[in-house]
Amino acid sequence: MTRIARLFSFSDTLDLARAVGSRLELDVSPIEVHYFPDGESLVRVECTDPGQAIVFRSLHHPNEKLIEVLFAADSLRRQGATEVGLVAPYLGYMRQDRVFRPGEPISQRVVGQLLGSAFDHVLTIEAHLHRIRELAEVFPCPAESISAATPIAQWLRTQPKTDVVIGPDAESEPWIRAIAQEAEIEWTVATKVRDSDRDVRIDLPPLPAGTNRVWIVDDIASSGATLETLVRALKAFGVQEIGAVIVHALLERDMPSRLAEAGLDRLVSTDGINDPTNVISLAPLLAESIGKRLRTGEDS
Ligand code: R5P
Repeated sequence: MTRIARLFSFSDTLDLARAVGSRLELDVSPIEVHYFPDGESLVRVECTDPGQAIVFRSLHHPNEKLIEVLFAADSLRRQGATEVGLVAPYLGYMRQDRVFRPGEPISQRVVGQLLGSAFDHVLTIEAHLHRIRELAEVFPCPAESISAATPIAQWLRTQPKTDVVIGPDAESEPWIRAIAQEAEIEWTVATKVRDSDRDVRIDLPPLPAGTNRVWIVDDIASSGATLETLVRALKAFGVQEIGAVIVHALLERDMPSRLAEAGLDRLVSTDGINDPTNVISLAPLLAESIGKRLRTGEDS
């Protein structure tokens, strides 16, 4: 017997959840949040068919959102959901994966434990994993981070001929290589040193002579310092057309204009975080993975 499955989404991921739902022929119900004057959140979600439930929400600006997804999981279980999963296209707090300076927590583990205690499985895209290889190392439930390399490569293939795809730092190398090889474009990575939240230094690698059109590819743009510094370096080298593809657009409001001023011609992102720069849909990737999870969970 196939169990009933239903998707639930907070308002910020509703469009993406609907795109996934239509691929899987699953209904999507909204999750509402009321904010009390003192800042507390009241979450409301109706679940009329108990079965497998999947909650969508990207966890950027995560503090409020984290508690709200836990409330949603509690409500769904109280209404009879037999399994509750979380799809967080962007999963916050993954960058603090060790104690960098004495006195700090390992935020990644704390958040992993918290979400893993409330959800039966967690799915995300391009979690920022440096010192651990698998999300399963920090979550007490099945947890998976899937790569956005293929949708990015497919999109790059639709663009006018690009000379080079460039990643901002050495850590990005395997990912940039995978994207560039799939898109059949030359690739390279820069060297980056971060001095503070908003200050980075970047050294360009040697670029092929006659490099005129370049796409920067990065998993996150947050302060925008990485992109801005790299764009300025490429301009100084003489690159004429520069675009940037970002998976998670954690963009401050003035960032697109700052980047344009630095010389960036085009900024595009995936739709894991709702933003005007969204161009590349993660729906096919998420639908495939969620579909597999639901099939594995079917009663035979
Ligand atoms: C770093 O490892 C990431 O790939 C990004 O380059 C970084 O998180 C971007 O941050 P920001 O926009 O603040 O420079």
